Amino acid sequence: MELNIAVLPGDGIGPEISEQGVAVMSAVCKKFGHEVNYAYALCGADAIDKVGDPFPEETFQICQEADAVLFSAVGDPKFDNNPTAKVRPEQGLLAMRKKLGLFANIRPVQTFKCLLHKSPLRAELVEGADFLCIRELTGGMYFGEKYQDNEKAYDTNMYTRPEIERILKVGFEYAMKRRKHLTVVDKANVLASSRLWRQIAQEMAPQYPEVKTDYMYVDNAAMRMIQEPTFFDVMVTENTFGDILTDEGSCISGSMGLLPSASTGESTPVFEPIHGSWPQAKGLNIANPLAQILSVAMLFEYFDCKEEGALIREAVDASLDANVRTPEIQVEGGAKYGTKEVGAWIVNYINEKSK
Ligand code: IPM
Ligand code: MG
Repeated sequence: MELNIAVLPGDGIGPEISEQGVAVMSAVCKKFGHEVNYAYALCGADAIDKVGDPFPEETFQICQEADAVLFSAVGDPKFDNNPTAKVRPEQGLLAMRKKLGLFANIRPVQTFKCLLHKSPLRAELVEGADFLCIRELTGGMYFGEKYQDNEKAYDTNMYTRPEIERILKVGFEYAMKRRKHLTVVDKANVLASSRLWRQIAQEMAPQYPEVKTDYMYVDNAAMRMIQEPTFFDVMVTENTFGDILTDEGSCISGSMGLLPSASTGESTPVFEPIHGSWPQAKGLNIANPLAQILSVAMLFEYFDCKEEGALIREAVDASLDANVRTPEIQVEGGAKYGTKEVGAWIVNYINEKSK
């Protein structure tokens, strides 16, 4: 297979973890005889500084022409502390999602046995938790009509039937591939938009008779996620609820630095860690590259390269078992490995592994 990958390192720790993701990607391609080409492109604060736009047209072109995008992170505190800034790095991320039609964001929540003690929840509660949160990514309040003056402001939470149908379809299909349990998360007791979601989900459910579909209000879902995370298999929800619930989900596993995600839709899919740009750690070689590396596994799996994905997951597990870990997950007294060293260990594992 020939793979053309757009690489968007972005800001903060982005470039450091990107480098490790690319190294792992190259090692796997070499092992399995795939040809891979990389096209680097600007985004985020880096792109604002260089060309004045967080998602420049040239980057869009490069993404459109690629088979997949390997994205790292955007964000810079100099924009966070300036509420009057006209352009923000995050706008680049939203523009990318909209322009590439990335309506489905897939965020797996998984635990790693050896890191259960790192979870803020009791180990016996999180053990075995393994679910997918499917977040609608190009509609709702994020993109609806907005207004703001000094006295009044609003955001409109608008969803159309086709937008709801296509994301629910993704939800049902993932449920079919997994444990056949779909939870539709909404706020149908209050919001009209949620009532339409629920109505459409009820219309579609009979097409998937094997899937057990249940409906849960978002406030209840937030509670259930920490009370009984093993309850969930696939959950599907709108943009804003998904943003909030996926942050909650990410901490269940013990470190945000471990979770990858995929965004798919009408054009090129994007694979990225769910954590942000962690500007304070920039250049310190302490960021965990595993979420980025696991994003590469998701990329291969998207193209149905299951063995490639499995080898990356095996290498990541092996690095954890060997205590080759970045500081935030290292065991007491264990040597602290840097971003580069963890990446290099995983690349070496892949190279050495006989096929
Ligand atoms: C995420 C992030 C983004 C979002 C921000 C950076 C705009 O929190 O990907 O979850 O809210 O979608
Ligand atoms: Mg978020």
